[in-house]
Amino acid sequence: MPSAWLRERRRDYYYRKAKEDKYRSRASYKLLEAIRKYHFLDERDVVIDLGAAPGGWLQVAQKTVGSHGFVLGVDLNDIQPIEEANVCIIVGDITQPGIVKQIKEVLPCLADAVISDVSPKVSGIWEVDHARQVDLARSSLAIANELLRIGGNFFVKVFQGDLFDAFIKEVKGCFSRVKIMKPKASRTKSAEIFVLGMSMKEKR
Ligand SMILES: C[S@@+](CC[C@H](N)C(=O)[O-])C[C@H]1O[C@@H](n2cnc3c(N)ncnc32)[C@H](O)[C@@H]1O
Repeated sequence: MPSAWLRERRRDYYYRKAKEDKYRSRASYKLLEAIRKYHFLDERDVVIDLGAAPGGWLQVAQKTVGSHGFVLGVDLNDIQPIEEANVCIIVGDITQPGIVKQIKEVLPCLADAVISDVSPKVSGIWEVDHARQVDLARSSLAIANELLRIGGNFFVKVFQGDLFDAFIKEVKGCFSRVKIMKPKASRTKSAEIFVLGMSMKEKR
């Protein structure tokens, strides 16, 4: 008898659609919706994807930037290679200081976009998970600050909670425009929400 979790997953529209469309995760549709709405990824872009395993966002990013763009995925876990030659993968921890150097060694130039779907292992204790998630979102923002070109874009997942407003303030300090969205593929009961920083400001 399949577990309740398995039964729910099989009923899930985006889970089944991802299987049909050959995406590695249902998360692909969150990124697709955001790109269609805000046009923050383009053909030929150089993109860094943080927390990229198993690779659903990598597939969407690669299709969007095309064969003249470049996509780099970073995750704690190994990622099955993506067929296209312009997708690279680094196994690493985005909270470790050495990660920026590691990414720079692979990146052809400063990035046009940093996208981050990084999530902590959920403990079930709400305050702990929220704080860990915001810490990871901050690590993603720090990487964007180092590796994004001026005018570049930043798209990041955050869990809603009392640390959310302070994080948004930090993003507003770095980007000319900030949008907040909950894509349709994001489960209603999930606290996740996505923050888009558009057009990175010049550093003072
Ligand atoms: C929700 S999954 C990402 C799904 C992915 N966007 C996709 O479409 O397939 C979150 C990922 O964040 C990764 N992660 C968590 N903490 C990390 C860290 N400190 N450094 C790098 N990756 C991390 C996890 O290993 C996990 O694969």
